[in-house]
Amino acid sequence: MSNEWKVICRVDDIPVLGSRVVQRKDQPNVAIFRNSEDKVFALLDKCPHKGGPLSQGIVFGERVACPLHNWSIELNSGCAVAPDEGCTQRFAVKVENGEVSLDLHELNAPSDVAKGLAAA
Ligand code: FES
Repeated sequence: MSNEWKVICRVDDIPVLGSRVVQRKDQPNVAIFRNSEDKVFALLDKCPHKGGPLSQGIVFGERVACPLHNWSIELNSGCAVAPDEGCTQRFAVKVENGEVSLDLHELNAPSDVAKGLAAA
């Protein structure tokens, strides 16, 4: 399937080692992260543990630490670092000329929120 990219913001609009939240209608938000090397990643803004807001976590290397119980989540895959288990949805990101785009189809598709979520 071909991608249809939607420009979301500029890389510079995302705080280094922080994130920017993309609001979606009737869907959980998407968090776009920027690390110290200006790499950009996008994940569903829900931790695979108990749904904590990953956008409020601290980015280190290519991981983000969840603000609720400090799980480390791989920004590339959305998966928790062992011994923790579970993955949150990751989104394709394109960076071109300093602009960050997300795939419109992916952005509009229903998120599989329950995927990988640990039992409450
Ligand atoms: S909700 Fe993220 S570590 Fe518990």
